[in-house]
Amino acid sequence: MSGEYRRAYDRSMTDPDGFWREAAVLIDWYREPETIMDTSALPFSRWFAGGELNTCHNALDRHVEAGRGDQVALIHDSPVTDDRQRFTYRELRDEVARFAGVLRSVGVDKGDRVIIYMPMVPQAAIAMLACARLGAIHSVVFGGFAARELAVRIDDAQPSAIVSASCGIEGKRVIEYKPLLDKAIELSSHDPGRSIVLQRPQAEATMTERDLDWAEAMRDAEPVECVPVAATDPLYVLYTSGTTGKPKGVQRDNGGHAVALRWSMENVYDVGPGEVMFTASDVGWVVGHSYIVYAPLLTGATTVLYEGKPVGTPDAGQFWRVVQEHRVKALFTAPTAFRGIKKEDPEASYLEQYDISSLETLFLAGERLDPETWTWASEKLGIPVVDHWWQTETGWPIAANLRGLEPMELKAGSPSVIVPGYQVEILDVDGTVLPHGEEGAITIKLPLPPGCLQTLWNDDERFRESYMSRYEGYYLTGDGGYLDEDGYLYVMGRTDDVINVAGHRLSTGSMEEVLSNHPDVAECAVIGVHDAMKGQVPRGFVVLKAGVEREESELSAELVRMVRDEVGAVASFKDVAVVPALPKTRSGKVLRKTMRGIADGADEAVPSTIDDASVLDTLRPVLQKGPGA
Ligand code: COA
Ligand code: AMP
Repeated sequence: MSGEYRRAYDRSMTDPDGFWREAAVLIDWYREPETIMDTSALPFSRWFAGGELNTCHNALDRHVEAGRGDQVALIHDSPVTDDRQRFTYRELRDEVARFAGVLRSVGVDKGDRVIIYMPMVPQAAIAMLACARLGAIHSVVFGGFAARELAVRIDDAQPSAIVSASCGIEGKRVIEYKPLLDKAIELSSHDPGRSIVLQRPQAEATMTERDLDWAEAMRDAEPVECVPVAATDPLYVLYTSGTTGKPKGVQRDNGGHAVALRWSMENVYDVGPGEVMFTASDVGWVVGHSYIVYAPLLTGATTVLYEGKPVGTPDAGQFWRVVQEHRVKALFTAPTAFRGIKKEDPEASYLEQYDISSLETLFLAGERLDPETWTWASEKLGIPVVDHWWQTETGWPIAANLRGLEPMELKAGSPSVIVPGYQVEILDVDGTVLPHGEEGAITIKLPLPPGCLQTLWNDDERFRESYMSRYEGYYLTGDGGYLDEDGYLYVMGRTDDVINVAGHRLSTGSMEEVLSNHPDVAECAVIGVHDAMKGQVPRGFVVLKAGVEREESELSAELVRMVRDEVGAVASFKDVAVVPALPKTRSGKVLRKTMRGIADGADEAVPSTIDDASVLDTLRPVLQKGPGA
C-alpha cells in the first residue's frame, strides 16, 4: 500500500477546508466560494458558500469550450428498441440549451421545480441538465412507480411543469406512461402546469390541452444560456423511501454535489476525461443521477445510458456486448443484476462471444453483495469486483475501495474502507462509540461532506427528526454494521422498515397504507424477507375486520393487485397472508423486526415488551413457511 488513502483520509479530517478547496479547482466557478465549509448551523452544513456556478455549464459547455466538443458524451444503447444513439458534447449541449428554452417558454424559472417521469431515454438526461441550466430544480420520479406515488411527489414538490414520455419498454412489454401521468395529475391537488411529452413510436400518447409534444416544442425553441446559481442553491430533489408512506424529498445543492462527484470519479471509480463509464441502473434512482448523468459528464467522460435489462433483452450477454461495443472501462450495477445473469448463464458462456478487455473494474452497490455473487463475478470476469456502500441521502459512496486513489485488498462481504470526507462511527443504543468488531448503528459524525443532502424538501423538521435526532451530532444512516481492525466496514442491513427489492429502495409503510385502504382489512403489516434473487421481497399480513369472511386466495389477489396499481410493479409484492392477529408491544407497536427475523430463519428472541406472546406463537409457522405457503 502506498499510503495515499491514509494521507487523503487524514487530511480530509484534519483539514477539510484545504482538502475540498483543492477538489473544487476541478469545477468552473463564475464566482469563487468565500468559505469552503460552513458548520455554523449544524446539523445543516453549507458547502462553498458565496460561490456561484452552473452545474450544466460544468457538465457540458466547458468541455466544448475546452476542445472536447466532438467527443461522445452520451450513448443511448437500447436493445429493446434495437437502437443506438450517440451525442457528442457539442450536440448534447445544443439539445440541452434548446430544451431549456422549451422549459422557459412554459414559464419555468430559476428555483421552480420540474418533475421528470421518463423511461431510460436520452431525453431524460437532457431534461435534467436543462433544469440545471436554468437553475430550476428537477425531481425525477422512477418510471416503475404507479400513479399514486407520482401524485404524492407532485403534491410535495409543487412543480411548474412535468416532462414525460408516451411509453417505456420493460423487457418485451410496452408500458404506457401517459395514462399514469394523467391519473397522477387527477389524483394530486397541485396543478403542475404544462406537460411536455416525448412521443415514442411504440405507443403514441393521446395529447390534451395541457400537453406539448417534445419534438414540436424543440423545433421552435430558442437556446438558453446557463444561469449562474449559488453553490448552496438546490440542484434537485429526489424522493426516496422512508419508513412511512410519505417519501422523503432528498435535496441536493449545486456546488457540493459538483465537487464531490467530480472527486469521486478519479479517486473511487478511476474514470477520467475521455474514458467510458456504463452504469446499469435507472435515472430515477440516485445511482442514475450521480453515475449515469452528472459525474461522468462533470468529468468529460462518456456515459452509457442503457435501456434494457441484464437478462431477457434479449439475453444474459448484453452487458458484455455493451462493454465491447463502447469500450467501457468501468461497469456499475446492482448485485441483483449479476444474480440474474448468473442464474441465466451460470457458466458465463456469453462472455466467450465478446471482447471485454477494456473493462477494468466492476462496481456493485444498492444492496448487500452476497459473497457468492462476489466470488462468481470475480472469477468469471477476472477483474476487481468492488462492493461500495452509499445511499440516496449521501449521493456518492461512503465506503469503497478507492480504485483511483489507492486500490486496496478486497474482502468478501465488505464494501472496504471509509471514503475521505466521511467520519463513520459505530454507536450502541446509548450513543457510545463501539470498538472494532462490535455491531451497532452506522452513523456519520457531522458535518457531512459535500454532495450529501442539505435537508428534506420543504421539511427541515423531518430532516432533523429522521436523521439527526437519534444521536446528537451524528447523521443516522439507518444501516447497522461494524468496522474490523483494518477499518473495513461490514454493512449488515437496515435497522428500520426500509426494504431493498432488486436494488430498489421501497417503504413497507407505503404498501401498508394501500393494504389498510381495503374495506375488509382491519390492520396489516408488511415486512421485507430474504429472497435469493432480489435480495429482499415484501410479505404482507392482514387481519380482517370483525365479521368479514373471505376466501383467502381471492382477497390476497385483490390486495396484490392494489399494491401493484398504487405503488408499482417494482415493489414485487406477491404474497399476503390472512392472520388472526399481529404481534404487538404493550404500547401497540407491531413487532415487525421480530416477524422479519423469524421469517428469515433467525433464532429470534421474544421481546420482553410483547403484549400477548400467544399471537406470535400462532404466527410463527406462517412466517417460517415462507412466501406463498
Ligand atoms: N417501469 C415500469 N415497470 C417496471 C420498471 C419501470 N421502469 N422497472 C421495473 N418494472 C417492473 C418490471 O417489469 C417487473 O414487473 P413484473 O412483476 O410484471 O414482471 C417488476 O417491476 C419488477 O422489476 P425488477 O425489479 O426489475 O425485476 P424483474 O423481475 O423484472 O427483473 C432482474 C429481474 C434480475 C433483471 C432484476 O432483478 C434486475 O436486475 N433489475 C434491475 C436492478 C437495478 O437496476 N436496480 C437499480 C439499483 S442501482
Ligand atoms: P438507496 O438510497 O436506494 O441507494 O438505498 C440505500 C440503502 O441500500 C442503504 O441504506 C443500504 O441499506 C443499502 N445498500 C446500498 N449499498 C449497499 C451495499 N454495498 N451493501 C449493503 N447495503 C447497501
